[in-house]
Amino acid sequence: MYLLQIVALLGFLALGYGAAIPTGLEPQSPLDGRIVGGVAASIENHPWMVSVQTSGSHHCGGSIISNTIVVTAAHCLESPITASVLRIRAGSNRRSYGGVLVQVAAFKAHEGYKTASKVNDIAVLRLQSSLTFGSTIKAIALATVSPANGAAATVTGWGKIAYNSYTSTSTLNYIDTRIVSRSQCGSSSYSYGSRIRESMICAAIANKDSCNGDSGGPLVSGGQLVGVVSWGVECAAAKYPGVYADVAELRTWILQAQKTV
Ligand code: ARG
Repeated sequence: MYLLQIVALLGFLALGYGAAIPTGLEPQSPLDGRIVGGVAASIENHPWMVSVQTSGSHHCGGSIISNTIVVTAAHCLESPITASVLRIRAGSNRRSYGGVLVQVAAFKAHEGYKTASKVNDIAVLRLQSSLTFGSTIKAIALATVSPANGAAATVTGWGKIAYNSYTSTSTLNYIDTRIVSRSQCGSSSYSYGSRIRESMICAAIANKDSCNGDSGGPLVSGGQLVGVVSWGVECAAAKYPGVYADVAELRTWILQAQKTV
């Protein structure tokens, strides 16, 4: 995460130094506006989507599940992150402005989360003030059953547009993808094997994927939150689906955590 921020900072400085390039010759689209292989998303169609920010810059995605609770990935909150540096931006398809910016009062990561394996990669944030729901800010329901292999799903985020790129997007992007069930994802059809654990579910489609900076964000199927962006080998690589925390598997933990965080 910090690496990503440093890289983003370098990119920003490079842009500053490149200011002499006449407007119109600057590299703009298609660099501006992709997850990997994605297209621009309007916040009205994904009103649960938030940017989780550390010290004022985008860090991870998150999903609103009530007017005071956001779900994100545990790996987004690893030390030295404290609640005091965390804010969420809701109600905007821009990660840097618009909508509302709300301070995080406290967070709780799954006690069984492990950095190396990314097992149980789930966490909840409690907001200092309540969100006011409207057309751009809404809660999403947690899935009760893991979606079937092949089910249609959507991922949104402000993450990188390619694994080998330093560019992440300033406006929200989405891809339509397909669920790869846990048993499929760990099978010889793909290359992860036993790294796919009970708390995980996958999604894959040719040339499209979530990527760095999308972590913590929503994988939605049938109008419900079915996954949280967690990890993957590179992004959109053949035989390596995007791996997500399985919300249905982790639902009991989320329901308990949102009461005690
Ligand atoms: N770990 C990444 C993050 O922190 C998310 C990577 C998702 N990778 C993938 N191939 N879907 O932002």
